[in-house]
This record gives sequence, C-alpha cells and structure tokens, in this order.
Amino acid sequence: MGLLSTLFILFEVSSLIFCDELMQVNLLYRHGDRTPIYTYKDDPNVNKWDLPAGALTTIGMEQQFLQGQRLKKRYVGQLNFINGSYNPRELYARSADTSRCIQSAGANLAALYSGSVVHPNTPGWPSNWMPYPIHTYPSDSDTLCEEGSSSCQRIGLLESRRQRETPYVQYLIKNQDFLNQLTQWSGGTVNDAGSINRLWDTLYCQRAHNMTMPSWATNDVWNQLNEMFIYTDDYKDGLAVQQIGPNDNKELLSLRSGELLKQFISSMSDVVSNNGYWKFHVYSAHDSTIKALMRIYHNVKSVLGTNNPGYASHLVHELWKDTKGNYYIQVLFSDNAYTEYRQITSTLDGCSSFPNGCPFNNFTTYYSSYIQADFWKQCALTS
Ligand SMILES: *[C@@H]1O[C@H](CO)[C@@H](O)[C@H](O)[C@H]1NC(C)=O
Ligand SMILES: *[C@@H]1O[C@H](CO)[C@@H](O)[C@H](O)[C@H]1NC(C)=O
Ligand SMILES: *[C@@H]1O[C@H](CO)[C@@H](O)[C@H](O)[C@H]1NC(C)=O
Repeated sequence: MGLLSTLFILFEVSSLIFCDELMQVNLLYRHGDRTPIYTYKDDPNVNKWDLPAGALTTIGMEQQFLQGQRLKKRYVGQLNFINGSYNPRELYARSADTSRCIQSAGANLAALYSGSVVHPNTPGWPSNWMPYPIHTYPSDSDTLCEEGSSSCQRIGLLESRRQRETPYVQYLIKNQDFLNQLTQWSGGTVNDAGSINRLWDTLYCQRAHNMTMPSWATNDVWNQLNEMFIYTDDYKDGLAVQQIGPNDNKELLSLRSGELLKQFISSMSDVVSNNGYWKFHVYSAHDSTIKALMRIYHNVKSVLGTNNPGYASHLVHELWKDTKGNYYIQVLFSDNAYTEYRQITSTLDGCSSFPNGCPFNNFTTYYSSYIQADFWKQCALTS
C-alpha cells in the first residue's frame, strides 16, 4: 500500500474518531402558558382567571422549567457543550420586555443551571439556584424579540395595505357568513385579522385550561376559527397563503424578522472568524416572533401545519464545525414542553438540498436578501 493511500485511510478513520464539534447555539423560544390578553363582550369565562391579562401562569413556569431540563440534558449532559454551573461567559440571555417572557427565561434558566455550584450557601438560599442575568430592551426599540418593534411604522403601513388587497378581501367575503355568526355569538364585531386574532386568543387560553366553553364554541367552530386565524395572520404579515393569495410581501417578511436573522448570522460569523463570541444565545419571546422567522424560512406550514407555535416551543439553531473545518447549521424544533426536539433543517427553503446540515455560507447567502441594509431608514419610508 502506497504512502498516499495509507494517509488517506488514516484521514478517513480520524474523521470518524474526531467528531463534528458544536460551536454555538442560537435559541428562540415562546413564553409558557398565559392568561388571555383579550376578552369579548359575552365571554362567560371572563372572571375565571386569578391573574391579570397576559400573565404567565404556574403551568407556564413549569413548561419553561421542563424545557430548561431538556436543554440541560442535551447541552450540559449529552453534548457537554456548556458548563452546568453558572459561567458568566457562556450564555447570554435576552428577553422581550414583557413580564411573561422575562419570567419564562428565569424559569428556563433555573432548570438549565439547576446543577450550578456557583451560589452562596446562606441558610434559606434555594438549593443550586443562582440569579441569572436576563437582558431586555424597551419594546418599542426591540427589533429582535418584538418582530421588528412597534416603532417601525412601515410594518403597520404594509400590513394595512396587504389587508386591502383583493385576494385578502375576497377571502373574508367568502367567509362572511361565519364571521357574522361569530359576531352574533360573541357580541362583538369579528370582521378582520385583528378581531379574529383577539377572539381566537381568548378561546385558545380558555381551552388550554379546560374551561367550559359557551355552547356555540364547538370543536368545529373552533377549528374553522383557528384556520381563519392562521391564514389571515400569515397573509397579513407578508406570507403567501394557498387559501388566500399566492404572493409574498418580501419587504414585510424582512421587516418583521430580518433583524433577528441578521443577529443570528452576526453571532455565528463571530464563531467562524473566531472573533470572541458567546457559545449560547437565548431569546425569550412570543409565538409571533417564532412565526415571523418561520415565514422567512417558508416552513410555517411544513413545521406547524395549522397550529400556532405552542407554549414554550423552542426553535434552535446549532452551528457545527465538521472535521474538515466547514461550518454548517442544524435547526431543531420542540413543539411544546412535552415534546422532544425534531430535526427541521431541510424544511427551511434555503436548506432544502442539505438534509445533513445547512452549510453556513449557503444559509447566509440565501437569507441575506431578507436583511435590510438600513432597518430604521426603511421603517421611515411612507410611500
Ligand atoms: C464548571 O464550572 C465550575 C464552577 O465554576 C468549575 O469548578 C468547573 O471546573 C467547570 N467545569 C468545567 C468542565 O469547566
Ligand atoms: C386539561 O385537560 C387535559 C386532558 O385531560 C390535561 O392533560 C391538562 O392537564 C388539563 N389542563 C389544565 C390546565 O387543567
Ligand atoms: C452552496 O454554496 C456553494 C458555494 O459556497 C455553491 O457552489 C453551491 O451552489 C451552493 N448550493 C446551493 C444549493 O445553493
């Protein structure tokens, strides 16, 4: 056997022995179970909640605690990626500036670092818990956890234009009888994406708590309302929807989640260029934040079907380095606190030809067209 083939065999064997290396995780999750944000005129369950609107419940805390245990098992245990003891240089946690999101991050980190030895042993101190820093930005300037932020006026402008488009208007007209019924049953006007969303949300929260539904709110009615919510919400925010119309509004998709995508790519680029980086980024946010990103990936339907992202659902981006020094991305999703991660990398439209991991350069090239050169300048455009 010649020297070259011997070297070749050695090389092949070594790439089996020396495995691919996890380099960074960028994780986006939804807060846990909450109380409804809205009610409706004839809501029989309006007084059944003992917390204010939109508050994280103890079930919600538990859900994120379970997800934190899942993270601990994978990234502290199986992959030995981060230290289970608090290390101020490994994980950076950022949250939307909403109580339920901050509390969710706290519950999650309490589980992830439940083996931490870095804490005082003062009598009464909770065992193996330490306060973990969770960073926030004011909601109106939070372009990462608040889907482009509420200060980007162009988002509202493009959304209202989108809701005056013919296919969208026709979709509502086609469903006018059902909307009239919802209006009659609920006692408040249900006639557009916003009012559909509000009624949907109230019923969703009540169903999650097994409350007795008003007699009109049968499973069939719920399913129809749910589909209308999913379709109108996706379309309104820029995504083509088979049932409504065939065109994306790429600018809207980009304004909604391009800044978060830019942040992920920037964090991963720091790894690739060995530029000093956090190993683990956590973003504690909303269902709408997850959906906005999935709309850019064009995998809302293939990953979620007609479901909304569940409470405490996790969307994970792992950056790996293979034995030849190439970087690739694996995307995982956990639907809720009770569901293991599933591989969804090839559901991303930019990664469909890479079932074994999406090369970092291909990911970046494909999605760069969703990133605004100057986000705030674009937000200021009024034409
Ligand atoms: C994990 O952190 C603890 C506490 O700082 C430290 O004692 C330990 O050596 C660290 N383990 C590893 C593998 O770095
Ligand atoms: C609602 O019912 C389901 C099914 O019986 C149960 O698993 C769940 O824990 C209940 N949820 C609440 C909030 O009681
Ligand atoms: C992935 O990127 C490489 C170069 O970086 C390019 O040659 C190849 O065509 C890309 N593959 C796809 C499917 O876009």
